Amino acid sequence: MPASPKQRIELCEEAFKGIKGVEVSDWEIRQRGKSYSYLTMQRLKSKYPDYQILFLMGTDMLSSFDRWKNPLEILKVATPLLCVRGGEGASKNASANEFKLKFGVEIKTLSYEGNRLSSTDVKIEKLFLSDVSNLVGSGVNRLIDRYSLYNYGEISQFAVKSLSYERIEHTKHVIRLAIRYAKLFNCNLEKTVLASFLHDIAKYLKEDDYPQFVPPKGVPHQVMHQYLGAFVAENVLGVKDRQVLNAIKYHTSARPKMSLLSKIIFTADMLEESRTYEGVEEIRRLSFTDFDKAFVLSMKRSLDYVYERGCKVYPLTLKAYNYYKGDKYGF
Ligand SMILES: [Fe+2]
Ligand SMILES: [Fe+2]
Repeated sequence: MPASPKQRIELCEEAFKGIKGVEVSDWEIRQRGKSYSYLTMQRLKSKYPDYQILFLMGTDMLSSFDRWKNPLEILKVATPLLCVRGGEGASKNASANEFKLKFGVEIKTLSYEGNRLSSTDVKIEKLFLSDVSNLVGSGVNRLIDRYSLYNYGEISQFAVKSLSYERIEHTKHVIRLAIRYAKLFNCNLEKTVLASFLHDIAKYLKEDDYPQFVPPKGVPHQVMHQYLGAFVAENVLGVKDRQVLNAIKYHTSARPKMSLLSKIIFTADMLEESRTYEGVEEIRRLSFTDFDKAFVLSMKRSLDYVYERGCKVYPLTLKAYNYYKGDKYGF
């Protein structure tokens, strides 16, 4: 499903086809072992000693630059050049100033503002087998389809068939946010993508269609799809990973002793960008700095919602909330 180095080269060649003066180099993939940007920059400088080497970066790369291998070596031979995406314009000068303070080097900025598009967005679209010609051009889209990249094959087909348009949009938001958490808090990315992709897979499936499915007793209707979802993921779609299955199984109710992956799916589901309930933005902001507190607040919000509607609270959620809230947050 991920692109091989050779396929990446082919995708780049297709993307830059017909653009004068652009050459796609396969030097990095021909090197043995890990390829580091500082080595590529050094190689370019030795090949083109009379040229100024520009190192193009997005704001996301800029903020993680100090964690790269030998970042100062890059700056010795290349000039960093910042290109911001749509909507990031306001932070451009702040990012450039911060970079100068940190590395003592002036960063150039492009006056061009790129589309608000990332490779993650493209890959999320492809999970649902969408045509991404409008994002990357029809040639690149064709290549992605030819090599069947960035999708789960039959699992993707099942998801597209089983979910509504709105549910797919919601799921895309959950995946995007879950990936951000996984990167921030070092959770396995592959598992994060699979669990968030499948978390609502049973939202519109009928229990009767799966006679072997035995739900736990007393499950409220709105919680049932988490159990059926984990059952379908395991028994129909062949997912074997326990952590992924449990993340699906408790994404609505939560429970005590959840793994980091389960917490991420639960929280991303509650805080994804199309959620609009009161206070959600504040909890979302908090989630990037104090994830555990945001997780507990999300659980509290889910309980409050049930209380407000006069429905019966699912005991497992209450148990989870009491388990996690402790005295730390003083709720
Ligand atoms: Fe759900
Ligand atoms: Fe959901």
